[in-house]
Amino acid sequence: MNYNAKAGNPSRQRTPCLVLGIFSKRKLSDAAKTVDHASSGFLTSILKKGDMDGEPGQTLMLYDLPGTLCERVLLVGCGTQKDYDRSKHSEAVGKAISELNSGHTMEAILCLPALNPATTDLYTQLRDAIIKSNEAAYRFDQCKSDPKPPKRPLKKLTLLVSDRKELKIAQKAVTHGQAIAHGINLAKDLGNMPGNICTPSHLAEQARRLGRKSSKLKVKVLDEKQMETLKMGALLSVSRGSRQPAKLIIMEYHGDPAKSKPVVLVGKGLTFDAGGISIKPSPAMDEMKYDMCGGASVIGTLAACAGLELPINVVGIVPASENLPDGDANKPGDIVTSMSGQTIEILNTDAEGRLLLCDALTYSERFNPAIVIDVATLTGACVIALGSHATGLLSNNDALANEILDAGEHCNDRAWRLPLWEEYQKQLDSNFADMANIGGKGGGTITAACFLSRFTKKQKWAHLDIAGSAWRSGTHKGATGRPVALLTHLLLKRSKQLL
Ligand code: BES
Ligand code: MN
Ligand code: ZN
Repeated sequence: MNYNAKAGNPSRQRTPCLVLGIFSKRKLSDAAKTVDHASSGFLTSILKKGDMDGEPGQTLMLYDLPGTLCERVLLVGCGTQKDYDRSKHSEAVGKAISELNSGHTMEAILCLPALNPATTDLYTQLRDAIIKSNEAAYRFDQCKSDPKPPKRPLKKLTLLVSDRKELKIAQKAVTHGQAIAHGINLAKDLGNMPGNICTPSHLAEQARRLGRKSSKLKVKVLDEKQMETLKMGALLSVSRGSRQPAKLIIMEYHGDPAKSKPVVLVGKGLTFDAGGISIKPSPAMDEMKYDMCGGASVIGTLAACAGLELPINVVGIVPASENLPDGDANKPGDIVTSMSGQTIEILNTDAEGRLLLCDALTYSERFNPAIVIDVATLTGACVIALGSHATGLLSNNDALANEILDAGEHCNDRAWRLPLWEEYQKQLDSNFADMANIGGKGGGTITAACFLSRFTKKQKWAHLDIAGSAWRSGTHKGATGRPVALLTHLLLKRSKQLL
């Protein structure tokens, strides 16, 4: 979809469709009032007929409004004016886009009521609108033989602001929103792709393809032999159980000529997690194709970053492997030596994510990072603790943790911090190695982070557990593209692109 911004009077727009908000009960938004006035009370008289009273989720398509230049007006319910907030606005956008996509309008102008500037600024509202439109229009039909796409999908959406002075902010919101949306789509596509297609090599190829598109993005892929030379014994022990060779994808984005320290993003790229010898139960095991969503979000974020040509340096590292049972797979009780030299007793082969991440985190040291953030569908415990709305956040640095919480808040891609106290570390004690790869009963998300913390002592580091937030289960099963928005917002902020 093509997005842009424009300033002007809603009643003077020449467009196939103008989208206006109606508050309940039957209350016209400011833009709707303007159009109502121009059409000599047409909207008021329609609303009086009672076809729509402005409840969230309601829409009403009107044709041939007198006194205007638009072919159609789509009224969208925004709920009561007093409760109209970011989430109501997003809901209205989503509803409008679905409606337009299934109809006949390929172009539209969106003119929903402005949010209270005390709580949400214009930039945020408009960027939300772009990201939400993108979400509403997203489809994954690459694996269908007859995809049946919408006959006349919405192709161009213009965000209308009332004041010329607002245009610059609106354009910025569109540019940023579009880049984030593109990164989210990429992460979703990779996540939704089945494990037999989206293998470690496929992930690597997608990263390479991005590298070819941007002169500032250098992509390198290490094979198993090179990882052996680096002594990545933990990572390689996981891929030994699979016929697909592991890959270590390294994406270096150089946007800051000043050679400042990079932000390093590390994403778990487990393209299918059957659990290994500690095999998972079969119900819903298909969802373990999503175990590479951390890696996908890192790739998506680098795509957004390169698309915006942000003046910042960023390194994305994606350790990619499968976790399957095999004669040569890790066995419970096996002891492996990580790249850091620390030894690990593998008490459960299903706790494989941390085995990939620990070596990738050690590898990240060579980039002399300003900060390191890893992103992983790491623990089922995180789904129990936080459900699907919040990403789990654990960090050895309060400033970084707060920066991440704040970024999540700004783009509605929220995280929630859990403690990383010393007391939990004991749960990783092993009788035979430096540590075990599981922490026993209780605090599974925390002990997983404790494990990672042993490989990031020298870094300002944060860990994002996206086991609950990376995809939706059930009838609307699918990847969410989280936390591409959070990460891109953080990079926008760090590169001083936001006020
Ligand atoms: N990829 C899973 C985590 C996961 C589970 C994500 C369910 C989303 C939904 C991870 O590799 C895993 O299997 N973790 C184990 C760790 C345990 C053995 C300590 C888990 O959470 O059960
Ligand atoms: Mn696992
Ligand atoms: Zn896993």
